[in-house]
Amino acid sequence: MTATTSRRVLLAAPRGYCAGVDRAVITVEKALEQYGAPIYVRKQIVHNKYVVQTLEKKGAIFVDETEEVPEGAIVIFSAHGVAPVVHEEAAERRLASIDATCPLVTKVHKEAQRFAGEDYDILLIGHEGHEEVIGTMGEAPERIHLVDGPQDVDRLEVRDENKLVWLSQTTLSVDETMETVDRLKERFPALVSPPSDDICYATQNRQVAVKQIGADADLVIVVGSRNSSNSKRLVEVALQAGAKDAYLVDFADEIDEAWLDGVSTVGVTSGASVPEILVEGVLDWLAERGYADVEVVTSAEEHIQFSLPKELRRNLRNPE
Ligand code: F3S
Repeated sequence: MTATTSRRVLLAAPRGYCAGVDRAVITVEKALEQYGAPIYVRKQIVHNKYVVQTLEKKGAIFVDETEEVPEGAIVIFSAHGVAPVVHEEAAERRLASIDATCPLVTKVHKEAQRFAGEDYDILLIGHEGHEEVIGTMGEAPERIHLVDGPQDVDRLEVRDENKLVWLSQTTLSVDETMETVDRLKERFPALVSPPSDDICYATQNRQVAVKQIGADADLVIVVGSRNSSNSKRLVEVALQAGAKDAYLVDFADEIDEAWLDGVSTVGVTSGASVPEILVEGVLDWLAERGYADVEVVTSAEEHIQFSLPKELRRNLRNPE
């Protein structure tokens, strides 16, 4: 590493767990406490390797599809939401299901149901193949068209250009989404906007926070897993904000010492599914290399909490 005069860390706030992730993780923990292992979880409860490994050790079994869950067992649906057909499959297999879908994802499902019911075509801005997008599209497959960026706009075929609404995945880049919306509005001037933001408060706040530190950082380290949409967006936003380099790591031991060459200011943040212990690991790693001076840069306060799923209040092993 080349010698630098001052070495410091800018730590973004808010970062890490959002209210929807917190609720989903607690749901699995409580289900394990109340009903005992095994508890099946369809897909990763949240997109974080460490969280999934920790819950596995406590007795959670992660599966990809409902058909892998033994008949009559308890299954939890992940924070990203599921299509109605998944609820039907679970009922057919007599599974006791607990729905840990984030309420802000449920809000988008309800918007999709409502607009489809009013005979709109829905342009859903989101990433193809992401679990949340698959779940939302399942609400009205014949009415929802996926728009995975401005490049998709020209190829869209809709029934009536005057009966169109756009909705979005909750964890997108705010700026890129607005670019896509602008393109959509150029092509479909009568396009209706959603009644309120679909990109959730946590995604927006973490992007604003990383923009602030990104502008002053030579390097930004985002703690998060590669399948975490909101974490990946933080890397992109950091670079757009002016950071010379930005990387996504699950754990401190994935950081490459060479990234620190010539770096005096390191920005650190974490995605909405990342427990703080992983950020602490990164800060310790940096402190050992001379970056012990940590300044917290706060751009918003968050006080949102969601109540736990109502199914946790029932006796699911022995229903009356
Ligand atoms: Fe929900 Fe947003 Fe978190 S949709 S799970 S609050 S990232």
